[in-house]
Amino acid sequence: MGLLLAIILGFLAALIGGLYLLGVFRQRRPGEPPLDKGLIPWMGHVLEFRRNTLKFLERMKRKHGDVFTIQLGGFYITFLQDPLSFGSIVKESRERLDFNKFAVQLVRKVFGYVAIEGEHNILHVASSKHLKGDGLEVMTQSMMGNLQNLMLHDIGSSGDQNSDRRAWIEDGLFKYSYNIVFRAGYLSLYGNEPHKPDGSEEKAKEKDRAESEALFDEFRKYDQLFPNLAYGVLTPRKRLEAERLMGFFWNSLSVQKMKTKDNISRWIWDIQQAKEEVGIKESMINRYMFVLLWASQGNTGPSSFWLLLFLMKHPEAMEAVKEEVVKVLNEFGQEVQPGGPLINLTRDMLSKTPVLDSVVEETLRLTAAPLLTRAVLQDMTLKMADGRQYPIRQGDRIAVFPYIAVHIDPEIHPDPLSFKYDRFLNPDGSKKTDFYKAGKKVKYYNMPWGAGVSMCPGRFFATNELKQFVFLMLVYFEFELKNPDEEIPEIDFRRWGFGSMQPQRDVQFRYRLRY
Ligand code: HEM
Repeated sequence: MGLLLAIILGFLAALIGGLYLLGVFRQRRPGEPPLDKGLIPWMGHVLEFRRNTLKFLERMKRKHGDVFTIQLGGFYITFLQDPLSFGSIVKESRERLDFNKFAVQLVRKVFGYVAIEGEHNILHVASSKHLKGDGLEVMTQSMMGNLQNLMLHDIGSSGDQNSDRRAWIEDGLFKYSYNIVFRAGYLSLYGNEPHKPDGSEEKAKEKDRAESEALFDEFRKYDQLFPNLAYGVLTPRKRLEAERLMGFFWNSLSVQKMKTKDNISRWIWDIQQAKEEVGIKESMINRYMFVLLWASQGNTGPSSFWLLLFLMKHPEAMEAVKEEVVKVLNEFGQEVQPGGPLINLTRDMLSKTPVLDSVVEETLRLTAAPLLTRAVLQDMTLKMADGRQYPIRQGDRIAVFPYIAVHIDPEIHPDPLSFKYDRFLNPDGSKKTDFYKAGKKVKYYNMPWGAGVSMCPGRFFATNELKQFVFLMLVYFEFELKNPDEEIPEIDFRRWGFGSMQPQRDVQFRYRLRY
């Protein structure tokens, strides 16, 4: 009898412990944000969240207001949706709110990279040196050369004006834009085939084109598996495919391969060296090269698609950008002539394009939707701009989804779902930075790059890449939608939270050389 009682008590203790771990007993304490645990223990709302993050968070906001805590896969995450209060997260000390912990877990899960303590600083140092200022100038030049190789390699291959090199080429706009911008970005960061000692420059360029094409094809396969990989819900067959692809990238981007290349960016080079110096194994550095490929090339390509699409769907925007491009070329004494030298688009020229800047910003407002997450390391108080205060528990997470809270808030951006090319321009043509909510100026009025410690270090380079691509398209090509009346495709809702959005389907367009 005594034994039976002990077994029953043991079982009850285990059951209660299990339920406790599943979060069944967590109750909202006085003063805390509204708590919504969902119906499934431990998992909470994860299914609905994963199905369509935007819709789910909109529903939660309607139900609970601009601060609420939800249960997602064993974590309690407090969502802050008031942009006027973002400062309290962005500026909170790293002792209380940590970005890295979450990032380290994700990177381990989806890229197989195991980080060591304190190494994040390597990325910061290299990015400050090479993705800004003079370092950016070098990268931008390199990008220009690679874009020209990919987009214009057959220009002038026939001197005959009537030859069919001016024939229209039809393609998917998403496929085309992503392909070109990814490959040019990859070559600019990870280097080119050497053309010495035995080969010609043309042969090396041809090899660059072929190798980057093969890499892009594999990248797109991984890209499509990515959302389910990040949520840990791939089928075993797809999981195997993801592992094969990871192996392919670790090998293709390996330190040894890189040593055979010319023109590796200093950004990549310095990161490799610094990791070696702190004793990280070469096989791990190879894995990190894939993390960087993902971070640097997974967003810009999709953004370039939306950018060209919005221009084609909005003739007034297209006209304004074309006018600006011609003006900049004239100002810098450059002209595109059949058979003449290729234009040299410098960083100086790219800094004189306020209209294109506004178009880029507007495109990102509508199509970049990152989810910014921080781990709560100590009990803390979330202080809202209007004076409300909420205790937040150690071990929880805090998240911001700026797409709902800022990008499509009609108070900050009237008529928020429409593309307005001059939304970020003042009447005098300068950059507009004044946006308001409830009569108060909103500091974080567009957040495609995130904010605070984890803000995208590649944002200046990414902006230049987008501008260079559009510039070259406008200068060298005529292009149009195959069906000008075709609707702008919906966003692929499985990707909300993962940076630049992708369309649910491609859009056919055609292009041909102007000259
Ligand atoms: C349109 C293009 C891009 C968008 C929308 C974008 C967006 C973002 C966002 C939102 C984050 C922060 C994520 C977070 O806080 O959790 C981020 C991080 C990062 N981005 Fe970008 N990015 C773009 C292009 C680039 C490029 C071209 C590079 C490199 C050349 C780059 C390198 C990185 C890196 C290394 C991080 C991680 C930063 C860290 O761990 O501190 N990104 N990006």
